[in-house]
Amino acid sequence: MPQTILEDLTVGETPDIAEALARRGSHARAHQLLRSALQTVPSRLDIRVRRGIVANPTVRTNVLLDLMGALKSFQKSAFVSDGLATWMKLLPFMEDVRFMQTAARHENLLPIPNWHWNLQTALWAVQQVAKVPGDFMELGVFRGHTTLFLADYLEFQDIPRTWWLYDTFEGIPEDQLDPNWRDNNARAYEGTFSFEEVQARFAAYPNIKVIKGRVPEVLQAGELPEQIAFLHMDLNNSTAEIAALDLVFDRIPSGGVILFDDYCWEVSRAQHDAEKAWFAQRGLHILPLPTGQGVFVKP
Ligand SMILES: C[S@@+](CC[C@H](N)C(=O)[O-])C[C@H]1O[C@@H](n2cnc3c(N)ncnc32)[C@H](O)[C@@H]1O
Repeated sequence: MPQTILEDLTVGETPDIAEALARRGSHARAHQLLRSALQTVPSRLDIRVRRGIVANPTVRTNVLLDLMGALKSFQKSAFVSDGLATWMKLLPFMEDVRFMQTAARHENLLPIPNWHWNLQTALWAVQQVAKVPGDFMELGVFRGHTTLFLADYLEFQDIPRTWWLYDTFEGIPEDQLDPNWRDNNARAYEGTFSFEEVQARFAAYPNIKVIKGRVPEVLQAGELPEQIAFLHMDLNNSTAEIAALDLVFDRIPSGGVILFDDYCWEVSRAQHDAEKAWFAQRGLHILPLPTGQGVFVKP
């Protein structure tokens, strides 16, 4: 599209033109257009949400754009992410400038658009354990998106705890693939990230340890905190997550939080069923969330 046409656009025309560009595969141009419109009208939620959608294009980008179209009469509240749409609801994260700026700074690390509701749950969890003794732990780091967002927001370098991050940095081990993950694994992680890259990403945080190893073996070898106040469980792998629960659950004190990233995603049915059963055996329950997460607060 010639530059002159883009220059003549009014802000009101921007969403439609950007959507047309995105639908024919020009996501970068659509993103550029929506981003510059936001500089003029930063409060326009519909433009903001569309910008997030096209910033991280996936196979479902057009579905998310369709949803935004269907919610046109709710444009002051409609929010669409992959697998989650809300309208007529408050969006508390939007009222927190620091949250929005921090989320935007790291959004390129996760190939899922508009991840704000999930980040908000994670932020609640780490704030909730402020008075609970113990370190923080993440099982399944990928490029480090969630922890980097949280550490940046919390200024974790000044907090007297250690954050222990574990990953193979080579994707889900073949012998631990759940049925729905057999087709997804290579596409999702293989060759897309590295230990060195993630270690460099956390270099500004002397109290964040990036550990290369396979769960549960790396934990069985004894490389884990004495006490755990917050555990982000995100291995996309029921075998390793259940083995990890067996090893770390007793190290979580009363009030500690486990956030399961994948408890309610359709593709993660095996994790949901295994974890629900593991907790039920102990008379305990994980709270399922429409974000796809599950939350457990230890009594
Ligand atoms: C969904 S990603 C983690 C995303 C990350 N928590 C975030 O918020 O951006 C899942 C990660 O788990 C790792 N993983 C899967 N099974 C593992 C295992 N048994 N041991 C260590 N890492 C594993 C994969 O390599 C992948 O990077």
